[in-house]
Amino acid sequence: MTGVQMHFEDGDLLAQNAIRSVVRDTYGAVEPTDRRVAERFYSPNELAGLPETAVRIALGVGNPVRHADLQPGQDVIDLGSGGGIDCLLAARAVGPSGSVVGVDFLSDMVGRATAAAAEAGHANVRILEGLIEALPVPDASADVVISNGVVNLSPRKARVLAEAFRVLRPGGRLAIVDLVLEHDLPPEIQTHPAAWAGCLSGALSEISLYKGIRRAGFRDVSIKPLAPFGISECALYPLFGEELLSLMRATLQTEQQDRIATSVFVHGRKPIGDGRLPGRARK
Ligand SMILES: C[S@@+](CC[C@H](N)C(=O)[O-])C[C@H]1O[C@@H](n2cnc3c(N)ncnc32)[C@H](O)[C@@H]1O
Repeated sequence: MTGVQMHFEDGDLLAQNAIRSVVRDTYGAVEPTDRRVAERFYSPNELAGLPETAVRIALGVGNPVRHADLQPGQDVIDLGSGGGIDCLLAARAVGPSGSVVGVDFLSDMVGRATAAAAEAGHANVRILEGLIEALPVPDASADVVISNGVVNLSPRKARVLAEAFRVLRPGGRLAIVDLVLEHDLPPEIQTHPAAWAGCLSGALSEISLYKGIRRAGFRDVSIKPLAPFGISECALYPLFGEELLSLMRATLQTEQQDRIATSVFVHGRKPIGDGRLPGRARK
């Protein structure tokens, strides 16, 4: 089994706790900075009217709402909502008759996203403090689960996907953006705490992610590549210090440096009660 695949199944508890602390400490220390990450993934139109604090702390790897096909009136859950940028865009898409719940395990992030939703005037956005491995929301309460650059951070990805499945209504959809690794990472990068917190070391290969989503019960699963993610993309984030970037330049093969990973849009559907997908006749 390669290093890339190894991460899908839950590792030993010590490793899980160590990973969770690194992720907590890293995101707990991040402050709003510049608009570079937001401007890479969101159009000027999408960013117009969003609170500046939410824009300056965008830390995702894509733009899930652009691909999620949200409809007015839908109920959406955002796993690892951070500063709340995707919650705000989802709230625009579902309108006042829909709702958005963001979940993040850091109280500072919850506070920022809650303030951003109030500033943007979205009364139908609630941000809850909690784990994506144990979502603080009832069964079958959402139409769409979105997420942006967060599933890779969890040492318990099977658990996260099982929770996404639980909270969706029958026929509901998983619509997330994440990274998939193109190659195994060199050991120095693989074991570097900032590389895990920076969304790389915990990322799966495309095939492992696909199998994990199917195993969680989703059907109609598709994984669409969005953009390459190389050293220059890593450098946009406050999480990657110069020491890690230099290590990456020194240890990654030249052809890998521009595409260590790929950001992908992942879609899956929860079957309706008897295992059928909506709109399909039973064979
Ligand atoms: C890469 S940032 C992405 C934030 C946001 N989705 C965005 O696009 O800006 C990851 C976020 O997930 C949160 N997070 C990481 N692991 C988590 C977990 N196991 N449970 C809940 N939140 C988690 C972090 O606190 C952080 O806010």
